[in-house]
Amino acid sequence: METNSLSRCSFVLCLILCLGFELVQCSVTYDKKAIVINGQRRILISGSIHYPRSTPEMWEDLIKKAKEGGLDVVETYVFWNVHEPSPGNYNFEGRYDLVRFINTIQKAGLYAQLRIGPYVCAEWNFGGFPVWLKFVPGISFRTDNEPFKMAMKGFTEKIVNLMKSENLFESQGGPIILSQIENEYGPRGKILGDAGHEYMTWAANMAVGLGTGVPWVMCKEDDAPDPVINTCNGFYCDTFSPNRPYKPKIWSEAWSGWFTEFGGPIYQRPVQDLAFSVAQFIQVGGSFVNYYMYHGGTNFGRSAGGPFITTSYDYDAPLDEYGLIRQPKYGHLKELHRAIKLCEHALVSADPTVISLGGLQQAHVFSPESGACAAFLSNYDTNSTARVMFNNMHYNLPPWSISILPDCRNVVFNTAKVGVQTSQMEMVPINTEMFSWETFNEDISSLDESSTFTYPGLLEQINVTRDRSDYLWYTTSVDIGSTESFFHGGELPTLDVQSRGHALHVFINGQLSGSASGTRKTRRFTFSEKVNLQPGPNRIALLSVAVGLPNIGGQFETWETGVLGPVALHGLDQGKWDLSRQKWTYQVGLKGEVMDLVSTNAVSSVDWMQGSLIAQKQQPLTWHKAYFNAPEGDEPLALDMGSMGKGQVWINGQSIGRYWLAYASGSCNGCSYSGRFRPPKCQVGCGQPTQRWYHVPRSWLKSSQNLLVLFEELGGDPTRISLVKRSVTGVCADVTEYHSTIKNWHTESHEKPMEFHKAKAHLQCGPGQSISSIKFASYGTPLGTCGSFQQGPCHSPASYAILEKNCIGQQRCSVTISNSNFRQDPCPNVLKRLSVEAICSP
Ligand code: GAL
Repeated sequence: METNSLSRCSFVLCLILCLGFELVQCSVTYDKKAIVINGQRRILISGSIHYPRSTPEMWEDLIKKAKEGGLDVVETYVFWNVHEPSPGNYNFEGRYDLVRFINTIQKAGLYAQLRIGPYVCAEWNFGGFPVWLKFVPGISFRTDNEPFKMAMKGFTEKIVNLMKSENLFESQGGPIILSQIENEYGPRGKILGDAGHEYMTWAANMAVGLGTGVPWVMCKEDDAPDPVINTCNGFYCDTFSPNRPYKPKIWSEAWSGWFTEFGGPIYQRPVQDLAFSVAQFIQVGGSFVNYYMYHGGTNFGRSAGGPFITTSYDYDAPLDEYGLIRQPKYGHLKELHRAIKLCEHALVSADPTVISLGGLQQAHVFSPESGACAAFLSNYDTNSTARVMFNNMHYNLPPWSISILPDCRNVVFNTAKVGVQTSQMEMVPINTEMFSWETFNEDISSLDESSTFTYPGLLEQINVTRDRSDYLWYTTSVDIGSTESFFHGGELPTLDVQSRGHALHVFINGQLSGSASGTRKTRRFTFSEKVNLQPGPNRIALLSVAVGLPNIGGQFETWETGVLGPVALHGLDQGKWDLSRQKWTYQVGLKGEVMDLVSTNAVSSVDWMQGSLIAQKQQPLTWHKAYFNAPEGDEPLALDMGSMGKGQVWINGQSIGRYWLAYASGSCNGCSYSGRFRPPKCQVGCGQPTQRWYHVPRSWLKSSQNLLVLFEELGGDPTRISLVKRSVTGVCADVTEYHSTIKNWHTESHEKPMEFHKAKAHLQCGPGQSISSIKFASYGTPLGTCGSFQQGPCHSPASYAILEKNCIGQQRCSVTISNSNFRQDPCPNVLKRLSVEAICSP
């Protein structure tokens, strides 16, 4: 509350000064060291939270947690396609209420960064472009093309004017301190040559001309013209320098994890390495870091980019998909941010001096004339701890780590030493009655004539659907003579269908014959299977399914989707029969979509079949519906779709997204934080469905009679779908004696080296929970990690008793790690630690 009114007060003060005196202004500028806000250079920590990837009801909490995690700035892209669904028709309601989102950031006392794009990439459908844009005559995206530039200018102006009209730029007393135009255009522009350079220069000038009063950035654009600042994106940005000596070093996307695609594993970035990369950027003079993502959230509806981006956009971010704190990632970064902030004055006032401390060890020292001093001691050795001497003191640097010394003496933080707890989150089944299902078959024997058309050949999918639906039917008929040898003991013919993506279900005479799909990289695939044909006419129905339009790649608006052929039957007596040029009938979307079966108003417009009548064998292309009451409590909810195949799911008419129980390929072989990260280095979930749980936002539910509708393409078993809640089920601490270098350091005097302070283990359950039992406790030399701790050669027999005494029944507790606290030293002269796993219960 206090900070809120304080920050509002300073904005107001700023405004008054702005209006009253010409010399003192609300302003955001920059110099070679940093972004300068109202005359002050700042080290700024920022995090990406995309407003349409959560609900407005979640925003305040997410932003509050971001602030508590040590963020100064919240960054978001602006998503053109949600705001302008058809040319000139705008939508800023609900999840798309950008003004409310920015206001929420300001109310929390944080700054905002607006990355308008309007190309945003972001694993978002079509990279954020409205699909109608593809159909503007003569258009070519992201190059020196008049129709494109006109549309881009129109939308950018629309957003800037909206922000101005609400006084949201810092120059007006608002929170927005930076804006971005375009996104990672550099590599693209190089390929396009002069046209690329023309367009990029035009985009920069167009943006600057809008007069926001705050700086513009272009990420990954080495040629960004003044005054636009070029910035870096990546897992590391330590070698990055802006294109002019008077621009600050900004890291606009510090990737906190990575996105997932259906059929792929989950990527996790160890926090020790993420913290290392951030400290490394700061030590070379970086002054602005934005975590991409800080909260990833959910690709609701059909907003996921593609193809094959999952509905979950969790990203292994510090706040998980559901908005819950992910530990130790969140806490360790929070401590990093505190450590960096203690150095702020020195960092913005001096350039670093680099001192070698060994072959792979360095000190970066910031010692401005004011007498302040901050140092970063780094160890690039990926295997060994280094003992280094700095300012006449010894320091131990774990492998691949950086220690931060805000006074050039005391280590307050080391990137590899995680002192904060680990939380174990689980999807806990809710004990309510199971869903009682009714079904409706998407009748494919007679596609509705009024909604179909025919064409002599195969058509590109997006040209036909304009992305109004994921689904496009291609149907044709073939006459097979009864004399064909396969009717008389010969081999069955094969149907070959070449598709440009993304997935395909093949029906022969109403029966599902098989499915196939591409990959994110190749998209193209061939369906090739033996088919059961009958003598006489046969109906071949191909259901081509888009799974998110591309969001990245050169001129992706021209990429083709759907069944472009050839389509051919092989193995008939005549040999090959090419069907590509015969008459095909097209239908956009499903009947259930046309009838809007998912909406609470239209759901009763068809005859649903009672669950008890449902055939044992689950049918493909089936709609399922059920009603349920909202579970009590406020834990986030999800649907466990583990028994299903592929489709989409809606709650009270709102789409919670595409689901697909595609199994993750690849091998998951453990992961070391040490050494340079790339996503395949740290993957989990191999052999499991990539995404089993689908977020059901609490705010979409009423207390009773919630309508759940799903469309299943393949034929899963809905009776095993359940509602689960995401809860903290356990917490772990794993702390070395004397080495919890920063516990309470911010309140301690800086005179004494911190390494002599007693370490403490802290445990904290979720809100409304308490510690009900201690599953593991060992003070000594325990082994393993959270969830699989084991006693090592040295173990204090008092371990369990001490933890139980301090923690049982408490929501949070802490235990000092010392021999006296554990009655006696279980193994003198051995460096000991305390590992604990506690169970949290409501
Ligand atoms: C970046 C891009 C982001 C996002 C990210 C991967 O290159 O700028 O929008 O796509 O990659 O998550």
